[in-house]
Amino acid sequence: MASSLITLLLSLLFLHHHSLSSIANPHKLHKLKPHLLSHLPRSKHSDHKPTEFFEVSKPIKLPNTKPCSNLVLTHDFAFTYGQPPVLASFHGPPPHCPSTQFSRIVLEWRATCRGTQFDRIFGVWLGGVELLRSCTAEPTSSGIVWTVEKDVTRYYSILTRNQTQKLSVYLGNVVDSTYTGVYHVNVSFHFYPVEKEKILKGFGVNSGFGFNSWADLVLPISRNLPLNDGLWFEIRKSGEIQLKEFEIPRNTYRAVLEVYVSFHENDEFWYSNLPNDYLAENGITDMPGNGPFREVVVSLDGKVVGAVWPFTVIYTGGMNPLLWAPISGIGSFDLPSYDIEITPFLGKILDGKIHKFGFNVTNALNVWFVDANLHLWLDKHSTKTEGKLLKHVSPPLVFSEVSNFKGLNGEFTTNANRKVLSIGWVKSSFGSFVTHSLQEFSYSNSLVMDNDANTQIIDQKIHFNDTVYVKTPFLDVHTIKSEKKFPLFLYLDYFDQGNGHYLYVTNLTLRFDENRSSKLAGCELSKSSLKNTQDGLGYLFIENNHIVGASASTQQLYSYKEDGKFCYFRNVSSSDYDIVYDEVKNGCSQRELDFPSAFGSGNQIFSHSKGFSSI
Ligand SMILES: *[C@@H]1O[C@H](CO)[C@@H](O)[C@H](O)[C@H]1NC(C)=O
Ligand SMILES: *[C@@H]1O[C@H](CO)[C@@H](O)[C@H](O)[C@H]1NC(C)=O
Ligand SMILES: *[C@@H]1O[C@H](CO)[C@@H](O)[C@H](O)[C@H]1NC(C)=O
Ligand SMILES: *[C@@H]1O[C@H](CO)[C@@H](O)[C@H](O)[C@H]1NC(C)=O
Ligand SMILES: *[C@@H]1O[C@H](CO)[C@@H](O)[C@H](O)[C@H]1NC(C)=O
Ligand SMILES: *[C@@H]1O[C@H](CO)[C@@H](O)[C@H](O)[C@H]1NC(C)=O
Ligand SMILES: *[C@@H]1O[C@H](CO)[C@@H](O)[C@H](O)[C@H]1NC(C)=O
Repeated sequence: MASSLITLLLSLLFLHHHSLSSIANPHKLHKLKPHLLSHLPRSKHSDHKPTEFFEVSKPIKLPNTKPCSNLVLTHDFAFTYGQPPVLASFHGPPPHCPSTQFSRIVLEWRATCRGTQFDRIFGVWLGGVELLRSCTAEPTSSGIVWTVEKDVTRYYSILTRNQTQKLSVYLGNVVDSTYTGVYHVNVSFHFYPVEKEKILKGFGVNSGFGFNSWADLVLPISRNLPLNDGLWFEIRKSGEIQLKEFEIPRNTYRAVLEVYVSFHENDEFWYSNLPNDYLAENGITDMPGNGPFREVVVSLDGKVVGAVWPFTVIYTGGMNPLLWAPISGIGSFDLPSYDIEITPFLGKILDGKIHKFGFNVTNALNVWFVDANLHLWLDKHSTKTEGKLLKHVSPPLVFSEVSNFKGLNGEFTTNANRKVLSIGWVKSSFGSFVTHSLQEFSYSNSLVMDNDANTQIIDQKIHFNDTVYVKTPFLDVHTIKSEKKFPLFLYLDYFDQGNGHYLYVTNLTLRFDENRSSKLAGCELSKSSLKNTQDGLGYLFIENNHIVGASASTQQLYSYKEDGKFCYFRNVSSSDYDIVYDEVKNGCSQRELDFPSAFGSGNQIFSHSKGFSSI
């Protein structure tokens, strides 16, 4: 019985060496064909209306103006795997738009699908600049629909450029007699004009200095092939480095590199990967290894300038697809991107010559998709700025790993830390500014294999701080700080119930928390706090090699507060496709309103959430 089950597990386990019945690990069930929504028996859902999927996120702050909208791309993604990205022409804001200044620009992705299909990763680029990294929802036989709305205002300069550009979408899908789901997609842009009163008050768009405005230029740090329209780099193993040459205008006074990452196949669940010595001693050759630590390292001309310790996004097919139906996993429909302040290094790259960014992933297994956008602020009053790197400290990763196992049971503890500090000055017509940038990371992972590997328990924490201070010529210090915490708890249990019956239990907590603050000369300008948690419990029932039943429930608590002025709270729960409860609170309670903000009720256009979001 055990061996027929293992055959079903697509030979992920290497039977010839031992005859364990199973190893609890999220990679394993992911490869099961029936592990797709359309194959899962559906109990209650008998109506034939498409299910609407969604990711919980705060509403985008919109001005009180009517948007000018463009449907830019309509495409049916059928067999697109390995094909070039799908292209459309993008001409900027619609010509009939009454305004040429916008306070918000929103990208809208809307898609439907019906049939059997995997969750697929996709990217949207404009002129090679990545605007969105996302994953599709998994379809059902009665059909699904979902919408992703993303605030893309930080790409203002490229979105409002008065020339035709290429919008490109890569979504590698496979359609055959088994996988029938075709993704029908529309991509639209909504340009919200600035409110008239704001223009009258002199708050135009992008007239502020560096930290208070959008970049003047965004350069693609993405793959040129095959059509120069943007695609991610693929990093297939540890030690592999992907390089991109670039050149910046000589009047740049600020630079921020925004990095997009997603992880797939053998590293889709990297945080659950077992150490190689455990796999070797147990004769397991078909499970991904390299342990559970990964980091994306970014280098400039060969020197480490920053890193990304990514949030553990779980795509919609992950572990038990019913966990993510219809409430999608945190970050799955809009994968977070990560900013690295490059300004201290400007002195090294303002020479009008070609330089190189490099990306590699520590311990990587096949495959990581990585690319970036370089946001640049230009000095319009001068043709040349100057700069110098004053200090750059980037000690090697501090890493420790303790393995303690006997046979298939054991405990593995992994800890890591990294710090990158850079200080540099830049002289422009705004004066001479010294920028300090500090990234601090800590990671811990406890991985337990129990019950002869039928139980796997993972408890992982990533803490990720970014601090940027700028000393102005007036000796004011402007500080922007982001603190992120990404805890993950995962409990997987595989029960042999006899007679070819198995039960697979997934119990997880996925959490994305972030505090941001901005201070000027010690005074708080703004601060925000996000707490976003999902708790899920899922069961898969396996009988004679087939999944015969599935069930899952997910609870999500989302709470966002900004300056006591903008608050959003949601408490929502699903059970097997159905929403059990959904409580939404928009607006702050009295207590939050009482919280004073030094920034007052002034200029919304340059408020923290916008101008500082590029840090
Ligand atoms: C895409 O837009 C077209 C034209 O407005 C519409 O007929 C179609 O239903 C839309 N598809 C989706 C997935 O929204
Ligand atoms: C865009 O460019 C065209 C041709 O160069 C020009 O006629 C038009 O006035 C420009 N539009 C804006 C809004 O600048
Ligand atoms: C990644 O690249 C950096 C910079 O070139 C290098 O110092 C580091 O050793 C590389 N790491 C791996 C795992 O290859
Ligand atoms: C991040 O900053 C907080 C508050 O300053 C500090 O307590 C924490 O240790 C920092 N985390 C890391 C990884 O350095
Ligand atoms: C899920 O895991 C947590 C932490 O171990 C535990 O307290 C809880 O009882 C588990 N829930 C179920 C239903 O197994
Ligand atoms: C955010 O700040 C609150 C209050 O100081 C703290 O309890 C929480 O741990 C912080 N969260 C993060 C992600 O640092
Ligand atoms: C979320 O809603 C559920 C069901 O109404 C309730 O039991 C729970 O206390 C709520 N949680 C919070 C934090 O409001």
